Amino acid sequence: MAVLGIESSAHTFGVGVVDHGRILANEKSMYRITNKGMIPAEVAEFHIENSAPTVEKALDSCGLQIKDITGIGYTRGPGLGPCLQVGQLTAKSLAFRLNVPIVPVNHGLAHVEITKHVAYMNDPLALYVSGGNSQILKFDKNAHRYAILGETFDMGIGNMLDAFARKLGLSHAWGSEIESLARSGAYLQLPYTVKGMDFSFTGLLTKSSQLIGKAKKEDLCYSVQETSFAMLCEATERALLLTKSRELCVCGGVAQNNRLADMLNCVAKEHNARFSRAPNEYNADNGAMIAYVAERLLLKGADVPLKKCDFMQRYRIDEAVFYG
Ligand code: FE2
Repeated sequence: MAVLGIESSAHTFGVGVVDHGRILANEKSMYRITNKGMIPAEVAEFHIENSAPTVEKALDSCGLQIKDITGIGYTRGPGLGPCLQVGQLTAKSLAFRLNVPIVPVNHGLAHVEITKHVAYMNDPLALYVSGGNSQILKFDKNAHRYAILGETFDMGIGNMLDAFARKLGLSHAWGSEIESLARSGAYLQLPYTVKGMDFSFTGLLTKSSQLIGKAKKEDLCYSVQETSFAMLCEATERALLLTKSRELCVCGGVAQNNRLADMLNCVAKEHNARFSRAPNEYNADNGAMIAYVAERLLLKGADVPLKKCDFMQRYRIDEAVFYG
C-alpha cells in the first residue's frame, strides 16, 4: 500500500507518501506570509499553482510513479475554506483518475497521531498548539475519538504570537523571532487567564500590544512567551493529574518552540510522565501526517464515496472517528 496524503489547511501545500507506516516522502510548498497576514483567496491561488508540482516532487523523492499510489487522504478541516478546497479537489481528482479509495482526515488528529508514531508513544495526553488551535486532548477508546479536555476560549496561541509579532514590527510574523528576542528579556506582569483546563489569550495580546513603545522589545517577547506558556502548562498539568497519563506530548506549529518544550518537560517530570515531541518537520503542517492517518483509516476499511468527500472549515477533532 502506498498512500498519498495532501495537506492544504493554511499556508502550506504538503504532500506525503506512506507505506505501512513508513514515511517515504514529505514535500511541501509554503506561501510566504507578509505583514498583512494570510488572505485566504491569495493562499488558495498559491496552492492551485503548486499542487501538481508538489505531488510530482513527493513522488520523485521516493522513486514512485502516480500509478503506484493505492490510496489517497486529504485534510478535511479545520482550516481556511478556499485553501482546504484546493486540497480536497486535488485529492478527489487523483482518486477518480487512479480509481483508488479516498478518505478525509482531521488536521489536528493527524498532528497528534504522527507525533505518537514518530515519538513512540502509546496513549499520551496531547497539547496541540498551532495558529488556529490550542487544545488539550486524550484519546477515548470507547468513543473512538479524541476528547477535548481543555481549549482556548478565543484565539489559538500561534495566532496570538503572530499577531503580536506583526504589531511589534518583526520582519516575519513568526513565533521563532519572538523566541530568539525573548532569550535576553526580563519579566513584566501581563494578564494570565486559566479557568480549569481552558485558557484565553486576548487579554494578554491586548495588554502586551499596549506596552509596545513603552517597554523593551525583548522584555515584551519574554513576558508574552512566559505568561502564555505558563497558562498552557498549568492547564496541561491539571489534565495530567486528571487522566493520570504516563506520557505527555506537544504537537502543532508552536510545538517547535524550545522554551515551551522545556516547560512541559518539567511538568511531565514532576508527575513521572515521559515527555516527547516530533521533529519540527512533523510539527509544521505536512502531508506525511495526513498520509499516515489516511493509511490507518484505509486499512480499517474506510473508503468514502467521492461525492461525500467534502471539506469543513470548523471540523473539530472530537467529531472525527478514529481507531487508536
Ligand atoms: Fe497544523
